[in-house]
Amino acid sequence: MNIKDDFRMLDKSIIYFDSAATSFKPNSVVDAITDYYTNYTANAHRGDYDISYEVDTKYEGVRDKVRNFINAEKREEIVFTSGTTESLNMIVDGFFKDYLNDGDEVLLTKAEHASNILPWFNINKDIKIKYIELDNDLVTLDNVKKAITPNTKVISLAHVTNVIGDKRPIKEISEFAHKNGILVVLDAAQSIPHTKVDVQDLDVDFIGFSGHKMCGPTGIGVLYGKYDLLKDLKPHNVGGGMNNDFESDKRYKYKEIPYKLEAGTPNIAGVIGLGAAIDYINSIGIDNIEKYISDLRSYAIDKLSKLNNIDIYNKDIKSSTIVFNVRGVHSQDTATYLNKNGICVRAGNHCAKILKDEIGVTNTCRISLYFYNTKEDIDTLVKVLDNNNILSESLL
Ligand code: ALA
Repeated sequence: MNIKDDFRMLDKSIIYFDSAATSFKPNSVVDAITDYYTNYTANAHRGDYDISYEVDTKYEGVRDKVRNFINAEKREEIVFTSGTTESLNMIVDGFFKDYLNDGDEVLLTKAEHASNILPWFNINKDIKIKYIELDNDLVTLDNVKKAITPNTKVISLAHVTNVIGDKRPIKEISEFAHKNGILVVLDAAQSIPHTKVDVQDLDVDFIGFSGHKMCGPTGIGVLYGKYDLLKDLKPHNVGGGMNNDFESDKRYKYKEIPYKLEAGTPNIAGVIGLGAAIDYINSIGIDNIEKYISDLRSYAIDKLSKLNNIDIYNKDIKSSTIVFNVRGVHSQDTATYLNKNGICVRAGNHCAKILKDEIGVTNTCRISLYFYNTKEDIDTLVKVLDNNNILSESLL
């Protein structure tokens, strides 16, 4: 892919393999944010003057871009949040805290990110959290069926997990869940940068994702919900911008969705940056991105498998992550050693702290690829890892 000139970060003499944590931002995204701050700074939805109208047009235009990007039925189904974590917290706090009753069951897996586990732990009712059994680290429809009982009310899953990187059969799971009156929540943080997320095709009820893993700025994300469910989601922030009227005797009237759920001055620069990120991804094509990364990953697995000092934990997955350890070396020491050689990877438990129950290791190194990585990057990595003195060199 000929995109080297699109990212100023690619001029640095590092190899960046941590895009699952956050991606680089193309110049067009940085420039769109600078343009807002330089040429038409104003608040949204509040002013009766030209630059304020310009902000409104751009801000609401991004809502339409997001709607098209995920194929939502209505623009009202798109709410801007600070990221996946806030989206999932809003979904659980604003909807499921009321929806669930004592004795109801929530289905998760032990491979979920903290942001798709801890909000469910915080429901102050006698609900049961159950973990779908994984089959060689994967979610299968059969195991979902086995985990469901008449008390199951919601299944909440990552589309693509942030460590193993497996893509779940969400469409099949949704179909089965809905036949049994069960709602489906999708954590799309790791899938949205790499693969088409079509909410109508997947038929999911709610999703959350972040802008910063898909070339957008940090601090901006999206909550999508099917209109008839989202309209009942209670706002966790109340204040300016989300009410139509209120009186001193506590009578009030909230706006309709999505504005009801966007109290206060929004992250206007973030929304504008997200819009530029969507334009950029569309200009390359999400299917081209998926194919490029899949081919690059196969190349990397092939080369890394030839090293005799590496254990890879997710060889057969078709996504962007490669999770490994150098035998006899703690993951953090490996990351330190790689950093000394100009290579950025993430080490540790990657916020999936109970995944260790499934894969048997607590700490791993994670390479996460994006479309600006190249075969040359992989060749350098393999050369640097082909060394029996990694531990001692990490300590130097
Ligand atoms: N959730 C992000 C990651 O997997 C931060 O690295």
